[in-house]
Amino acid sequence: MCGIVGYNGKKKAVDILLDGLSKLEYRGYDSAGIAIKDKNIEIFKAKGKLINLQDKIKDKNLKGTIGIGHTRWATHGEPSENNAHPHVSNNGNVTLVHNGIIENYQELIQKLEKHNYKFYSDTDTEVLTNIIDYYYNKYKIGPIDAINRTMVRVRGSYAIAVMFKDYPDEIWVARKDSPMIIGQNDDGTYVASDVPAILKYTKNVYYIDNLEAACLKKDKVIFYDLNGDVIKKEMQEIKWDVSAAEKEGYEHFMIKEIYEQPEVIKKTINSYIQDNTIDISRSNLTQEEIKDIKEIYIIACGSAYHVGVCAQYILEDLTKIPVRVEIASEFRYRKPLLNKKGLAIIISQSGETADSLAALREAKNAGIKTLGIINVVGSSIAREADHVLYTLAGPEIAVATTKAFSTQLIITYILAIEMAHVKRKINKKKYLELIKEIQTIPDKIKNILEDDTNNIQKLSSKFSYVHDAFYIGRNLDYAISLEGSLKLKEVSYIHSEAYAAGELKHGTISLIEPNTLVIGVITQDEIYEKTISNLVEVKSRGAYIITVNPNKIDVNKVADFTINIPETNKYFYPSLTVIPLQLLSYYITVSKGLDVDKPRNLAKSVTVE
Ligand code: G6P
Repeated sequence: MCGIVGYNGKKKAVDILLDGLSKLEYRGYDSAGIAIKDKNIEIFKAKGKLINLQDKIKDKNLKGTIGIGHTRWATHGEPSENNAHPHVSNNGNVTLVHNGIIENYQELIQKLEKHNYKFYSDTDTEVLTNIIDYYYNKYKIGPIDAINRTMVRVRGSYAIAVMFKDYPDEIWVARKDSPMIIGQNDDGTYVASDVPAILKYTKNVYYIDNLEAACLKKDKVIFYDLNGDVIKKEMQEIKWDVSAAEKEGYEHFMIKEIYEQPEVIKKTINSYIQDNTIDISRSNLTQEEIKDIKEIYIIACGSAYHVGVCAQYILEDLTKIPVRVEIASEFRYRKPLLNKKGLAIIISQSGETADSLAALREAKNAGIKTLGIINVVGSSIAREADHVLYTLAGPEIAVATTKAFSTQLIITYILAIEMAHVKRKINKKKYLELIKEIQTIPDKIKNILEDDTNNIQKLSSKFSYVHDAFYIGRNLDYAISLEGSLKLKEVSYIHSEAYAAGELKHGTISLIEPNTLVIGVITQDEIYEKTISNLVEVKSRGAYIITVNPNKIDVNKVADFTINIPETNKYFYPSLTVIPLQLLSYYITVSKGLDVDKPRNLAKSVTVE
């Protein structure tokens, strides 16, 4: 998705903008542009990678200390230089970058055409630029009123950064349903759609709410509400490390983030478990409220949805509360029947995924309690959910999630144990036993990384040629197969499917041919023999079988290659089995020579429907 960065201060803006945009590359983009004000506002844009933009401006000696930049992920209009941001109003008065989508842009075009506005691009953003200009000229009351009238008039989602020719020392910003933060240090003020873009410069930020605007001067930021009244905001400190958003010697962010997992899981555990006691009071979810919960709805997208599938098994089994897990884009349009005493759990790394945010609002409108499991502090879902449990994964840069996924899993375990305990479905002994075991997970992951990486790397080079892969398992092993399969297909472009092992025979087995890759996840004591039987069925049709299992499970008669993982409690196996599956996807992709951190067509945070 698109990215925004802006700077107003003492330093050369071009360096800060380009550096910020490079930190936003991971979000996915197809063109980039900047506007820098020196004597006049100068605009430079280029299709494709950021390097093309850098090449264009390398001899320009841009000295301006105020500017805005953008990476565009095409929605309205093809990826091209013409459609790239910044866009400029007809008279050159307004220069703007925009994330999001303006839904009523056609209607606005008609309105503007009546006033002789012309359009050079196919974007909704150019329309937005001219609407601001239109109100600015019509009422002659300055930027804040032009922006506020625009916010009232447009429908859709947006984060915008605007420069007005008549206000050369200011950047104006506003947002609705699209992320934006504002930072400040002694060198100036910053705006970005995403923390990593400005983390290097400052950790002191303001969160700007929906339908608010702000004016960035060189030494201060002034916030406004929709009435144009000044509002006060507290500055907050981001806890993320700068180094977490850098590769630090690793070849790719994905492998760095895979290796960070023991550490960030430990941090997440330690923030909710102290002295063998779970404490989730920071979420403000009280024990009384927990006792009252009659149903749980887990709602999420992508990998976060897969965490939900795992959590469904664990939460239901431990708490005896019925749990349903749903894809957010389905939930939001389904008018589900929700128990008033239900709890909706929204899982999201970014806290900005449009469908998850909409699902949260649906649940709130239905009058049920909501809980977010979120990584990005201050994100929309974190702010709108009644309760929040934060994952402490730090900034995740690789598009394919690994460490955020793993910390989300941990939170669901902690929540399940706490709820089961509060509801008296497990006794103190079981509670302590589970807590003790959870704390062993970071070291067990470390062991997998130490013991298995080399073998998986060697094995992966053999599989770069495959066209199809199938991941099978039962129960929690099926849940993690969903994630393993997604991980492989999203980064390596190898077609892959996950199947509940017992379901294979109902169609999918017809796809098995000699040397088809089948990965069997086998951890659950009660049912592992059944999965092994299913693997035997595909092996006898020529499949190459990789198994992921603890040593105690005998896979000799099926496995062509075995990845052993340490033993743990049955509920926690997903945290261990996912590690080799992540490594497999990573190394297969690297051996194919693909850009593992930025797979084609994907975006890290999907803020459109
Ligand atoms: C995108 C990402 C996935 C992620 C999904 C949900 O598709 O590429 O890795 O799982 O969005 O994102 P969220 O930020 O809500 O967890």
